[in-house]
Order: sequence, then structure tokens, then C-alpha cells
Amino acid sequence: MTPQTIRKAVIPAAGFGTRFLPATKATPKEMLPLVDKPLIQYGVEEAVAAGCTDIIIVTGRGKTTMEDHFDRSPELEAALGARGKTELLQLVQSIASLARISYVRQPDALGLGHAVLMAKELVGQEPFAVILPDDIVDAQPGCLAQMVAAFAETQATILGTEWVEGDAISLYGCLDCTPHPTNPRLVAVNNLVEKPRPQEAPSQNAIIGRYILTPRIFAMIEQLTPGTGGELQLTDALRALLKYEQIYGFHYQGQRYDAGDKLGFLKATVDFALQHDAVGPAFRNWLRTQKF
Ligand code: G1P
Repeated sequence: MTPQTIRKAVIPAAGFGTRFLPATKATPKEMLPLVDKPLIQYGVEEAVAAGCTDIIIVTGRGKTTMEDHFDRSPELEAALGARGKTELLQLVQSIASLARISYVRQPDALGLGHAVLMAKELVGQEPFAVILPDDIVDAQPGCLAQMVAAFAETQATILGTEWVEGDAISLYGCLDCTPHPTNPRLVAVNNLVEKPRPQEAPSQNAIIGRYILTPRIFAMIEQLTPGTGGELQLTDALRALLKYEQIYGFHYQGQRYDAGDKLGFLKATVDFALQHDAVGPAFRNWLRTQKF
């Protein structure tokens, strides 16, 4: 069989963003900026850097600014052009040509599994990536690119994985897994459980918001009944998939931030600001003058 490649990435972005209220009352949390770029653009750029040409964003009510962000902006472009602001003009234009982006609506927030299911028709019968835009991974090469390279070897479902300390495991999907015989970054998944109680967690291997999934996952989601939090959980669909296919966890190289959480968002902001070409040096100097 010809090895399959990953051309499509699904980005679920229909959540309410309650952890950021009131900022997210009328603004999608995916549009909150880390320094000067909205969260969702980091996800799209990571998918593009991994070789994806088609991005499917799962949206909901009140999220249309995301569509405007990735569209052309003729008035703004004309104004920047007239003022000779060439660099900004190129920056604005480049966002609209990042990838082919389609949008599908999730009418009710019924869980991550349900959000992924909304993309079934647009994905079709091929393996695809899922990026949760709250999880920002600072990595070179990007986290998804690392996983795509591993997929070239396994041709099987791969879940981005990270070792977390103590009770934090109950915030994540958790893997029961064993080391891969040859690739130290891979683990073979034996079982998965969504947000286990700390004392019941089979390991400290947490699933992060990066997935490469085979299309059989859609049939597994369709058969789901509501799980943790009354939602259709992707983790439960993956457990059902284990009956048919091998699943791997992948320990990526890089630094992840939970930007869906205030503290994680602030950490990411500081680290990205320090790395920023224009403001980084001045921000570092200013931080040095602060007393904590
Ligand atoms: C979701 C998944 C969970 C995963 C996490 C990664 O949970 O259900 O398995 O570990 O993303 O960020 P959420 O954070 O949306 O509650």
C-alpha cells in the first residue's frame, strides 16, 4: 500500500472560552493574541509547517472574526499600500494565503469527539491531524511536523503525549502504554482514560492537543455515548479504535503552554514576548528592572 501523508488538519474552535470571561464574551478565545498573533494562527501555522494544505476550522456562533482573520482584507490592504507600509501589507496578505481554510459549524458544544465528527465530510477517507488551539507548543520543528515524521514510520494513529506531575493528570486524557521497541519517542497505547482521578490514573502520560487520526475514528465517535462531563469524548472513541488499530503516543520535543488557562496564557505571553524580534530585548530589560 502507498504510504499515506497528512494533508488535512482539523482545528476545533467552537468552545465558549469561559476561563477567559469577560474577555471572551464577544471575542472568540482563539482570537486572543499571544503578543501580536491570535492563538488560532499559531495552530494554523503549525499545521502548514507540517505539510498540511487544507485546514478545517470547527466554529460556532459568535466566531466570525476568525473567518475574517484568515480572509483577504481589501480596505486594510489598500490603506496600508497607500501609506507605503509594505511590510505590514505583506504580513496581512500572507495570512490570507496560508492554506485552504474551510469552516464547519458545531451547533451544540457536545464535546471534542463531536467537534471532530463535524469535519467528517470535509476530511473524507484519509488520515488527518487535529490541533487544539489552546495548546501552544513552542518547538523546532513544530510539534505536528515531528508527529507527521513519526506517522511516516507507523502509518497509525498518533497522540501527542507529555509526562505530567502528580494530580495534574486528572486534567487530561491519560495513556496506559508501553515503550516502542526501536523509537524512544513512541509508546504503544494499551488503553486510554479521559481525566482519571489521580489515584486511578494508569500512568502520568497525558494526551496533549495534537493528534494524527485514521478516518475510522469517525465511526467510533458515531457509536459513542456521552462520557466524562456528559460529552462525546475523543478519548473514548480512541479506546474503541484500539479494538481495530494500533495507537501510539508520541513524546514530542518542545515546550507546551496551556493557553486556554490564564496562568498558562501569561507564561506563553512572557516567553513569546522575550523571543519576539521587535519587543524581546526591551521587554527583557524591563523585566530585569522589576522587583518581585
Ligand atoms: C481535551 C481532551 C483531553 C486532552 C486535552 C489536551 O480536554 O479531552 O483528552 O488531554 O484536551 O489539552 P480539554 O482540555 O478540552 O478539557
